[in-house]
Amino acid sequence: MRKKIIVLTGAGMSQESGISTFRDADGLWEGHDVHEVASPDGWRNNPSLVLDFYNQRRRQLKVVQPNAGHLALHRLEVAYDVQIITQNVDNLHERAGSSNILHLHGELTKVRSTGNPKTVLEWHEDLNTGDQCREGFQLRPHIVWFGEDVPNYDAARRMCQQGDIFLIIGTSMQVYPAAGLIHFAPKQSQIYYVDPKPHISWELSLRPALEILEGKAGEMLPSLVDKLLNL
Ligand code: APR
Repeated sequence: MRKKIIVLTGAGMSQESGISTFRDADGLWEGHDVHEVASPDGWRNNPSLVLDFYNQRRRQLKVVQPNAGHLALHRLEVAYDVQIITQNVDNLHERAGSSNILHLHGELTKVRSTGNPKTVLEWHEDLNTGDQCREGFQLRPHIVWFGEDVPNYDAARRMCQQGDIFLIIGTSMQVYPAAGLIHFAPKQSQIYYVDPKPHISWELSLRPALEILEGKAGEMLPSLVDKLLNL
């Protein structure tokens, strides 16, 4: 049976594609306080600002491309059962060809009804105040904001419990519950952590099979993938 690789990715995965990370810029995200543009309070206080912020992100998505790291992860599928669990809201894993991607924090290319959370629509253009679902409710970005539940967390936890090999890529491991997922990795599983500034939690440091690759995803992943394909 094929081994299962679980890939946990964060903002650093897309940095070389030209998308900013969150915590590398003094707590500002593209010049904004994250709570202004990514929280239910921010949405209540100034929905136009929030919509505009995500419109800019959606427009940016059209001009950025998957990087060498995204493309390398796709190659793993030749020999492994690969499940990507990403905190990113971009679609660069999809565009690099990866098959199994779970988005923990939502997706930029989807919107949902503020009146009926089950109404989720594909959306590739700007979203404006006044854009409504069929039932007449304002649409909002399909993003998990600070303080909101993470609906895909249980599915992600179950996936992690089944993993043989784990790749953690480009995440500061500071935002919970996403950062806690690695605790569900079976004790003896091999973990690779790729990040130019890795944040090693106490629990992670106790792992018997942890290898830290200090560097950028696009630079480190092609050779790590080659190594895994040659095992
Ligand atoms: N390759 C790999 N890692 C990189 C690169 C790169 N080219 N550039 C930066 N990094 C690393 C940084 O060293 C840092 O550890 O990426 C990490 C980015 O950390 P954060 O900005 O905290 O992003 P992330 O961990 O994904 O944040 C989690 O927080 O704001 C919320 O919901 C948002 O999903 C996001 C969550």
